[in-house]
Amino acid sequence: MYVCVCNAVTDRQIRAAVHEGASSLKDLREELGVGVTCGTCLPCAGEVLRAALRQDPGPAAGAGLGGTAPAFA
Ligand code: FES
Repeated sequence: MYVCVCNAVTDRQIRAAVHEGASSLKDLREELGVGVTCGTCLPCAGEVLRAALRQDPGPAAGAGLGGTAPAFA
């Protein structure tokens, strides 16, 4: 489904970004453009981000590389 209509960003793209290491809305904004136009999508994008992080904490998690805690700002 589309999460960010303005920039045609889907939940699938957000999950893929999390898999590649995105851990905050700032990361999604920089990588996918989520929320950069009207911002209406930010609450939904945050929910998708949190769900994705629960399922797939990203490449650094559990690797013993000192991964950082997710930031939801
Ligand atoms: S819906 Fe995402 S910036 Fe407008």
